[in-house]
Amino acid sequence: MNVVKRSTQKNLTQPILRQLADYESRNVTFLSSDGSWPIVWEKARGMHVWDVEGRRYLDLTAAFGVAACGHAPREVVQAATRQMQTLLHAMGDVHPHRGKADLARALSRWTFERWSRQKAHLHEGPMKGRVLFSNSGFEAVEAALKTSHLATGKPEVIAFKGAYHGLGYGALSVTHRRHFRGRFLGQLKQFGHFVDFPEEAGEAPAILETIGRRLQHGKVGAILMEPIQSRAGLRIPPAGFMASLRDLCDAHGACLVLDEIYTGFGRTGTWFACEHEKVIPDLICLGKALTGGFPLSACVGRSTLMDHAWPPSTGEAIHTSTYLGHPVGCAMALAQLKQLKTLKLSQLARVKGQQWIQQLSEALEPCRDRVRIRGRGLMLGIEVRDARGLPDPGMVLCWTKTLLDAGVLVLPEGDHGEVLGISPPLIISDFEMQRATRILRRTLRAILAS
Ligand SMILES: Cc1ncc(COP(=O)(O)O)c(C=O)c1O
Repeated sequence: MNVVKRSTQKNLTQPILRQLADYESRNVTFLSSDGSWPIVWEKARGMHVWDVEGRRYLDLTAAFGVAACGHAPREVVQAATRQMQTLLHAMGDVHPHRGKADLARALSRWTFERWSRQKAHLHEGPMKGRVLFSNSGFEAVEAALKTSHLATGKPEVIAFKGAYHGLGYGALSVTHRRHFRGRFLGQLKQFGHFVDFPEEAGEAPAILETIGRRLQHGKVGAILMEPIQSRAGLRIPPAGFMASLRDLCDAHGACLVLDEIYTGFGRTGTWFACEHEKVIPDLICLGKALTGGFPLSACVGRSTLMDHAWPPSTGEAIHTSTYLGHPVGCAMALAQLKQLKTLKLSQLARVKGQQWIQQLSEALEPCRDRVRIRGRGLMLGIEVRDARGLPDPGMVLCWTKTLLDAGVLVLPEGDHGEVLGISPPLIISDFEMQRATRILRRTLRAILAS
């Protein structure tokens, strides 16, 4: 129940936004001139966020997919608090702490060890993962790019149109959208080659052929892919495409690098999205839901490849950072992983995702010529088109703001913001799904009628 009407409560929000506008760099927080965007977050628990006006919002974003177990799960907060009271900071690559060793082992078990048990016929025998920790998602991608370069000796990378891998200068070379790259091209070493991302089975053969031709030049050390493109608008490649990339990498001595920063840890209905296709990557990039709310990310690689790429340390690490494997992040991640497993959240995401697609399809049936529902698990999107059938980012923006007013948080996705993204905490209840569906239907109908 929303207690406070948003339109009548602007007394605490506006001074904070004005202060932000005065002191934060431009081009970070978008502040609409009519005061309708953004809200100022005060606290968050479970499925809900409260703003400084005391108004409650149902969060269908999981705050960029981070709050997979809901906001501030008790077990994760307790682990963080305990850790802060004992060891707040350690020494990245120099003097380690126990939590880093525990989390590295846990990530190996969650990924390569589990995958190799499932694919017991693999010639390699049991696999193990090795971990490079970092802070943000983009750093995990850059760690993977460095690893593939060291392992293969080949500098170039094939990435996909629409891809979003973060905005550091390494990641930016493989992030596609010109909005992010365009102004920095003068400083970028352009080692990334972009190919089309297929959505239909019929598109795949030509794309695979293009990739195969580029691999034949012998300079490509990695194919980097989001198993489902998130920011490009929830785009799913056709079945078998990832497996074909795996074969191409094997045939040409390149690494298959999967960016599961968004899709990882149950979001799409399996622990990792590559499991839908039973594909084992060489390197996987993880972040976001890993900790539930601390900037910690990881690049996990097949141990034989990692050992081939990275020489033993002689005292000065080639790749590290001050906060590498931060104790609080590691403690939170260990608690978060336990929670994900205990609550069986990947299974829940699969079942709930299927139910919700069904519910949404029925609820939005009267508007079927304007919307298309897509996604997998609880990584869903509603693509919106105008009356002529063209992508309609204006309407998505209007819908997003209307939903905010109605107490529901969503975000526009897609290259032009033409998709309404829905990626709630994986703990969403049936009641909350039904409530969200009703509000989505009501607001969409109101917009279309206006
Ligand atoms: C698939 C994917 N890769 C990488 C990133 C970058 O992560 P970060 O913003 O933590 O650097 C994101 C962020 O949205 C992402 O969705």
